[in-house]
Amino acid sequence: MTVCDYVPGLENIPAAQSGISYVDGKQGILEYRGIRIEELAAKSNFVESAYLLIWGKLPTQNELEAFETEIRYHRRIKYRIRDMMKCFPETGHPMDALQTSAAALGLFYARRALADPQYIREAVVRLLAKIPTMVAAFKVMRKGNDPIQPNDNLDYTANFLYMLTEQIPDPIEAHIFDVCLTLHAEHTINASTFSAMVTSSTMTDPYAVVASAVGTLAGPLHGGANEEVIQMLEEIGSIDNVRAYVEACVVNKKRIMGFGHRVYKVKDPRATILQELVEKLFAKEGVDYFYEIAVELEKVVEEKLAHKGVYANVDFYSGLVYRKLGIPTDLFTPILRSPASPVGWPIGASRSRKIASFDRHRSIAASTISPISPWQSGSVRVVLAWRSPPSASATPLSIDW
Ligand code: ACO
Repeated sequence: MTVCDYVPGLENIPAAQSGISYVDGKQGILEYRGIRIEELAAKSNFVESAYLLIWGKLPTQNELEAFETEIRYHRRIKYRIRDMMKCFPETGHPMDALQTSAAALGLFYARRALADPQYIREAVVRLLAKIPTMVAAFKVMRKGNDPIQPNDNLDYTANFLYMLTEQIPDPIEAHIFDVCLTLHAEHTINASTFSAMVTSSTMTDPYAVVASAVGTLAGPLHGGANEEVIQMLEEIGSIDNVRAYVEACVVNKKRIMGFGHRVYKVKDPRATILQELVEKLFAKEGVDYFYEIAVELEKVVEEKLAHKGVYANVDFYSGLVYRKLGIPTDLFTPILRSPASPVGWPIGASRSRKIASFDRHRSIAASTISPISPWQSGSVRVVLAWRSPPSASATPLSIDW
């Protein structure tokens, strides 16, 4: 590549070296710090996985307890933040509410102290602790009610579900919800992480970094797809309509939501885990009619599009889990991704400090390049940007901002 080559969306251009997570899209492998996602889903939990991602090693029992206590302590939000959120329009999207609230946190806690690892650590813990409270608060306040206060007797995930549903959750439901959060904690340099890296490279604070990444994640081709999956299943309406729906999409080149991925060209390993969770949940609480449509849809899509590497992605089954847990559709993305955001994005952003000068990007005069689709031109499509072998990720890293 010469310096003047134009690479749409920076596709396949390495943007960072990192050992935080690893994806093999051909074999369907996802690892956090060298540990397979299947193992973490079976043996770990979200808070422990967050610790692993941030500090590069699994915590001892004492370290884990101290981390949980620290997060628990910071769960509440200031009344001024709550008052600000009360003024949000009830018709506003929860992702926009989250973006605004995350940025607002930066007003309350000292900014521009980025050389201080303690400030960054506190910011990450605060974001981890307060984002679920803010997401749940908006859900309740848009109906005109006062938000549910965090319950100090519940662990991270059970408390989040409690604030959302206003009921102490069943342990199996809380466990399933927890695995969902773990699955979404980190995914190398996807569009939102890249956004975080760019924002962070200007040395702004972690609240602004997370707000920037939330804005990127809100798009339907990234985090918003799980909402659209449910709308699509409603539109299909019956198993009998599935084949015709898929065939029409293929003929008209319409994207089928919840399928395809920039990296995975086999079934997303997280979709496989989520499908198992859906079945576990339905075994306990009865099958959702949409699940039967979804299974048939996956079968027909594979038949028609597997040759293009289009398989179910993480968003395909996650919506069904959340629906069964009684969570409104427009909260799927902020709920799934938001607790993960202080984990993956700021540490992802730390990559950018070392390697990037994102304000020195060049562009090429538009007349010299061939047109590309609108969403390509405005977005960052760097998903294959990082490829380091799993062995590299086994090295514990100290926190390094
Ligand atoms: N439905 C139908 N066809 C598809 C789909 C899909 N969901 N995804 C890709 N294809 C087809 C394309 O039309 C293309 O066909 P062509 O070669 O005949 O033109 C071929 O597969 C390859 O498509 P690409 O655009 O190269 O696939 P890409 O890897 O760039 O796209 C993307 C990835 C954007 C995720 C795409 O699959 C998509 O739009 N999916 C639906 C939205 C979705 O589910 N997003 C969530 C992704 S997961 C996440 O962000 C966490």
